[in-house]
Amino acid sequence: MKKIRLADVELEVLDQGAGRPILFVHGFPLDHSMWNAQLAALPSGWRAIAPDLRGCGRSQVTPGTVSMEQLADDLAGVLDALEVREPIVYCGLSMGGYVAWQFIKKHAARLRGLVLCDTRSAADTPEAVQSRMKMLNHVLRAGTTYVAEAMMPRLFAPESFQRIGGETERIRRLILSSSPEAIAATLRGIAARPDSTPDLGSIAVPTLVVVGEHDAITSADEMRGVAAAIPGAQFEVIPDAGHMAPMENPPVFNALLAVFLARLPN
Ligand code: MLT
Repeated sequence: MKKIRLADVELEVLDQGAGRPILFVHGFPLDHSMWNAQLAALPSGWRAIAPDLRGCGRSQVTPGTVSMEQLADDLAGVLDALEVREPIVYCGLSMGGYVAWQFIKKHAARLRGLVLCDTRSAADTPEAVQSRMKMLNHVLRAGTTYVAEAMMPRLFAPESFQRIGGETERIRRLILSSSPEAIAATLRGIAARPDSTPDLGSIAVPTLVVVGEHDAITSADEMRGVAAAIPGAQFEVIPDAGHMAPMENPPVFNALLAVFLARLPN
């Protein structure tokens, strides 16, 4: 891992391999290690850059509100610090997708391709905002247990708890060890994110949209709609997987990713 100092925060970033850059952006409230199975199987000729977003993993916590736009700007700052000048493939899951919409808005020229996993373009409904505020109050009052209990059954398909129990347990511990202040700051940012659906039609890079067939947070139907709105996007449903599709079914996800990467124009 490399330490990267930006204007107001220090981030930990995994930078592995050499070649065309692919940026892996994790979901909430996780860290770069959710991409371990992709990092281990990345085709040769690719350089993987996988940050811990601010407040997550080993990156520094900034209290207040962490907006999706702020996280997108952090990613551009990481690419600058690593002297990545050529366009990147952006691969984001869930909150990593919310950040993608802002990255596309502000840094479109840096993109070569997009992989959007288990995410949505719509803003939160009033009910979703309310449940985030409930989680935020719990976490600030009583710590991260409530977050782990509320999220774990929604992150993974029921069968995954048996099939990849070591990994689901690792993620549970990661959530438990997160900073309550960071979780609160990120929840505020997620709840305030805008509706990005009107922007989907202007995405102008090759795009792969994937969703776990049992995703309980961002459904396959909703993601099919996102894919249909992005010109030329490829849409794939990952079997035997929930919201954490790349972790739950790496063979299928990695095969789709490898074909997508191989077909990208130079
Ligand atoms: C995530 O996986 O990033 C979260 O489930 C996103 C969300 O809570 O909307």
